[in-house]
Amino acid sequence: MSDAETSDPGRQHLRFGFYALLTFIVLGFLLEFFHGFRIGSYLSEETEPRRLMWTLAHAHGALIALIHITLGAAWSQLRPSPRLRMASLCLFAAAVLLPGGFFLGGLFVYPPDPGLGVVFVPIGGVFLFVGLALVARQT
Ligand code: HEM
Repeated sequence: MSDAETSDPGRQHLRFGFYALLTFIVLGFLLEFFHGFRIGSYLSEETEPRRLMWTLAHAHGALIALIHITLGAAWSQLRPSPRLRMASLCLFAAAVLLPGGFFLGGLFVYPPDPGLGVVFVPIGGVFLFVGLALVARQT
């Protein structure tokens, strides 16, 4: 693969999206394992916020990965501009902050509250909103 191909933003979104999807599907298998082996630190009432946070990390991570795959596949149809490059950066930030915040929020829990890591979630949400709005303007 040539350097031009690897630095093509559309291809970067495709590659990032597929690897992110694999990552969050592996998290799904891990959650499945916790259910199968009735792991108390995931399923008990005292750690209930952990289950919620990690389920949300899994679901949002997988769905944002699909957004990156869609953007990668559609890249050549969008009008190139600095705005599109900004959208791309916002969506990379959202893919890290939103599911990452949920995951960190479940790592250390203070029932009934999740951990402090959850503060990254709304920041990621803003990046997701702005990124999608910028892409919409380039269609
Ligand atoms: C594109 C792929 C996927 C998407 C978009 C996705 C999305 C979701 C969503 C939205 C939930 C929350 C459901 C609810 O609580 O009402 C969920 C839960 C779950 N998913 Fe996935 N999922 C995907 C793939 C997988 C895979 C491959 C596995 C592993 C076999 C998996 C395992 C689980 C488990 C175990 C839960 C329940 C967690 C719990 O409640 O403790 N998921 N998923």
